[in-house]
Order: sequence, then structure tokens, then C-alpha cells
Amino acid sequence: MNILLLGSGGREHALAWKLKQSSHCSTLWCAPGNAGIAHVAKIASIDINDNDAIVEFARQNAIGLVVVGPEQPLVNGVVDALEEAGIDAFGPSAAAAQLEGSKGFTKDLCAEFDIPTAAYQRFNNAPKAKSYIRQQGAPIVIKADGLAAGKGVIVAMTEAEAMDAVDACFEGEFGSAGAEVVIEEFLVGEEASLFAICDGQTAMLMGTAQDHKRVGDRDTGPNTGGMGAYSPAPILDQELIDEVMTDIIVPTLAGMHSRGMPFRGILYAGLMLTADGPQLIEYNVRFGDPECQVLMPRLKTDLVELLMASASGSLLEVEAEWKDEVALTVVMASEGYPGHYEKYTRIEGLDHAEAAGGLVFHAGTAMQDGHLVATGGRVLNVVGFGKSVTEAQEAAYTAVDQIDWKEGFCRRDIGWRAVARESGRD
Ligand code: AMP
Ligand code: GLY
Repeated sequence: MNILLLGSGGREHALAWKLKQSSHCSTLWCAPGNAGIAHVAKIASIDINDNDAIVEFARQNAIGLVVVGPEQPLVNGVVDALEEAGIDAFGPSAAAAQLEGSKGFTKDLCAEFDIPTAAYQRFNNAPKAKSYIRQQGAPIVIKADGLAAGKGVIVAMTEAEAMDAVDACFEGEFGSAGAEVVIEEFLVGEEASLFAICDGQTAMLMGTAQDHKRVGDRDTGPNTGGMGAYSPAPILDQELIDEVMTDIIVPTLAGMHSRGMPFRGILYAGLMLTADGPQLIEYNVRFGDPECQVLMPRLKTDLVELLMASASGSLLEVEAEWKDEVALTVVMASEGYPGHYEKYTRIEGLDHAEAAGGLVFHAGTAMQDGHLVATGGRVLNVVGFGKSVTEAQEAAYTAVDQIDWKEGFCRRDIGWRAVARESGRD
């Protein structure tokens, strides 16, 4: 079968790498891709936010399955458009993608179906939002309702910060995403992510991971798209996984089904493990980036079989098998990220990193005059493997140290919490 993958990040390189290994995959296409993806897929120059262009491309190239990496095309309804044209696609409909596209939608679903999450209120104007903040006090969390490229969440430690966040939202800092805000209780605990593949009725575990959102070592500095991750998340033991599946994932699927918008695709639950048990922080309706880069290398099962089962409603007939090892990825980014950074800086030594046992997935890369150059903020994902997080961390940094890229940087402590626990220091 010919497959079309949409996206251009490290997540999509990991997906392309795994899709290409499938016995069901003939030609793999990717739009718009990157320099790493170009090694495993043919690059298609279509706009991934243009549903008509995607349907047209899929028809002309006899595409049997479209795999959608990022959230925006899902929220735009690309899966609905492909389904109307009779083309199988992996991912939720636009209606079901509201689980990521509208935080208020998800909170209301949680309230209706008794899914554990922080107490909240929705507001569409500043005065009412501010009076709620005065009533509740700080710390408190302010969230722009819509998609804001990961920037629409402000964890306010003081009332003044919370008031400023409300003003920023309603003054348009997050565009239309901030026309409505959700204000919620501040939760305390350790964060972890759980991924479930869903076919509208059934959900199956697709692994767990923990990531590092802050740019600096010891989780300091501004938030980013993610500077590294490891899987599995040791803190999510079998008992907790069962609890999350039963109390959070299953009722979400049932709720979406009863609302007439069955959820198909990847449900990515961002969780806070509180003293009162796991609570849902947010849903994403896609694989995480960089979490996908540590899930795909651990998956033994043919990915196409799982994605087709999700698209066709037959997940009960398949099983996902995983390697019994830890994968840890370190993100290498352009100096200055998440702020301003220089583009087209030269990168060397990826072959040495791979020779040292690392697996390298590209994000913002391109070829220029025969050289690999950085074109984005997050540029490379270097994955290491081992029997423990400590071993996987050592393997990943051994490979990172083979890469010669003066204008790049990475965190040196990915996995620190788990490593400290493994050495008995926590
Ligand atoms: P999100 O973009 O929704 O993942 O939120 C970004 C980050 O904000 C999360 O990873 C958490 O660290 C933090 N956060 C979001 N909601 C809460 C909450 N209710 N309590 C504490 N921290 C939160
Ligand atoms: N790593 C966070 C995300 O993919 O949203």
C-alpha cells in the first residue's frame, strides 16, 4: 500500500522510519518532510493545511493510508475530507480533535463523565475571569482555550501574574485561541504521559513517556516544544496505567462516542500524578514530539497494522508488542531557541553518532550545497537505548558527543528524575 505521512518534525521522522519497515508499505510519501525523512520517504510538496490538495495528491498517487503527524491538519478536518473521498486516514475527525483544539471542550467532557481533572471555570471576558481569580487565589493556571502552539498555558504563582495572563489572553496575545479562557486549580505532583491508540470504541495502550519542556538543565528557563524524553515512564507502574486507562481513557472514549464524535487515532494524555491519584492535565490527539521518537524504536509490532486497525475500527483484533528496553532521546536545538536563532548552520558527524549506537531523527534540517544544515529551533533527536534510564541516558549522550555542530546545544540532564531514583538518590 502507498502511504502519505503529513509533517516535518522529529515525530514524523520516527513515524516514517517505522512505517518504512512495514511489510504493508510500498511507496512512502511525506509532506513536507525534512532532510532525514528524505532518506526513507519520497518528499511531496503539498501544503499540509490544504485539505483539497491532500485529497487530490492521495487520489493521484493511489494512497491507501494517510498518517497525520501534527494537530493543525486534524483540527482543520483533513481526516473528514479524506474519509469523504473514500481514503483511509489515521487520526481523529475535526469534531473529535476538539479534545486538543478546545481546552474548554475537554474540561466539560471531564465534568460530564466524571474524569479526574483540576477544578475549573470557563470565561469569555476579563472582569469575570479576574473576579474568579480573586476568589480562588494563587497559584492558579490560566489557559487560552484554543491551539496556541504550546504557549497558551500560564502557571501563575501570584494573583498579579494571573491577572496579567488574563489580560494577555483577552488582548489577543494568543490570537483567536485566547478569545475564551479556562482557569483551573493548580495541581501538584510529577507529570507523565500515556498514549492510547483508539478506534472509536476500543482503546489500547501505546506506551508511556516523560518529557522535559523547559529549555535549561534542572527544568529551568522558558518552555519549549520538548527538549528530551524517555519511555517507558518508570513512575507509571502497571497499577497506575490500569487506573488511567479505566478512570480517564475509557470514559473519554465512551463520552466521545455518546456525543456522536467517536475518537479514532492517538489519545495522548498529559497527566499529573497527585496525592489523590492521576489527574488529566490535557489531551493531545496525536503522538508527542519528542515522545514519538522514544516510542517507535521500542515498538515491535508492524505500525501499519495498528494504524489501519484504528482507522477501520478493528483494534480488538490486534496487539502491540514492545521491546523490553528503555529509550531516551536528547533534542539538539539551535542556540537561542526557543527565542531567536540563526538558520543554515552546518552540522557534521551524524554517521559517527550512529556508529556509536545512537539513532538520529531529524527535525528542522535541510540539505544545502551538499551539506546538512539546521533550519529550525529543534533540529535533531538523538536516541539511546539501555536496560535502565541511566544506561539509555549514557548511550544517548555518547552519541550526542559525536555530533559536530557549533551553533547547537542540548540539555545535559534528560531523564534526571528517573536516573536519581535509579541510583537511590531520590
Ligand atoms: P499544557 O500545554 O496544557 O501541557 O500545559 C503546559 C504545562 O503547564 C504542563 O506540562 C504543566 O507543567 C503545566 N500545567 C498545566 N495545567 C496545570 C495545572 N492544572 N496545575 C499545574 N500545572 C499545570
Ligand atoms: N512534547 C509535547 C507535545 O508533543 O505536545
